[in-house]
Amino acid sequence: MKLIIIGATGLVGAEIIKILEEKKIKKIKYIFFVASQKSTGKEIVFNNKKHKIITINEAVLIKPQYVLFSAGSKTSLKYAKTFTDLGAVVIDNSSAFRMSPKIKLVVPEINGNKITKEDKIIANPNCSTTQLVMALYPIHKKHNIKRVIVSTYQAIVGTGQLALQQLEREEANKEVLEAAYADKIHRNVIPKCDDFNEDGYTKEEQKIIDETNKILDSSIKITATAVRTPTIGGHGESVNVEFKNPIKVSEISELLTLQDGVVVCSGEKYITPIESRGKDDVFVSRLRRDHSVESGINMWVVADPLRKGAATNAIQILESIVNNQ
Ligand code: A2P
Repeated sequence: MKLIIIGATGLVGAEIIKILEEKKIKKIKYIFFVASQKSTGKEIVFNNKKHKIITINEAVLIKPQYVLFSAGSKTSLKYAKTFTDLGAVVIDNSSAFRMSPKIKLVVPEINGNKITKEDKIIANPNCSTTQLVMALYPIHKKHNIKRVIVSTYQAIVGTGQLALQQLEREEANKEVLEAAYADKIHRNVIPKCDDFNEDGYTKEEQKIIDETNKILDSSIKITATAVRTPTIGGHGESVNVEFKNPIKVSEISELLTLQDGVVVCSGEKYITPIESRGKDDVFVSRLRRDHSVESGINMWVVADPLRKGAATNAIQILESIVNNQ
């Protein structure tokens, strides 16, 4: 099996490399790493071996079976089809194909079993969506969710290298040469993730809404506010859920505990974003009844956007395809 990692020098790319090293997937015989022209000549160490970074055009000539894209939607839109035309399966981390009706948006624990041999491009959801649906799915299977209100506290790593550099330079009181955010991020929070749409929502907020509806159930009413915070470890989400019928908080806790990939902290124990760094699980804490409605709960959901929010989920998709062939 020949595998190509596009965006290998980025934050998600680096995490993909780490996870592939940890997992030691035996079927991978050849692996190639792609980045932009800027990285030509650089090397990546994988399993203690040096690999020269190649360009996308060189990767096309390799005719790989699998390609993992984490280089932004422009690159995915430009090149994904070139690879699928050559017979490859593309797993795409960008937003390019997520809402295309014919393309599956996959979180393996939820809908991985829906992938078929006909699926040539499989989309990986937005990081904020993945941790949200991981927490909602086991609950919604049993108790119909009527409405969700989610407010995010998103780590800068979700934006990429440039954001990390901006925070580090601001912290060191150095001039920011190329800013990821127009606002200051050090000692600040920014109530704007991604660009604004005409209705006043940001693209990130709309992604959370649309992708949750696509993955779970289009009848769930959902509204979102996405906020960027100067954190590095994980995204936090305050999630308010209203149900159609009465529920017991203890039962919700039990349903979440039984879900693979979800860790529940009970009582007064809670998880902060930094504690989720480098972990594959989605952590639920502060689970409690919402006394303002007939049937509702509040919870605090945390996960590492580079792991389950991106790299881990992409590799789980890859594993489920490879294992089913
Ligand atoms: P490079 O490091 O050469 O710029 P991040 O989101 O963390 O900033 O990472 C983006 C990743 O996508 C990097 O690996 C970057 O490579 C890569 N990338 C950006 N544009 C392209 C492109 N046109 N072709 C291939 N890789 C690209």
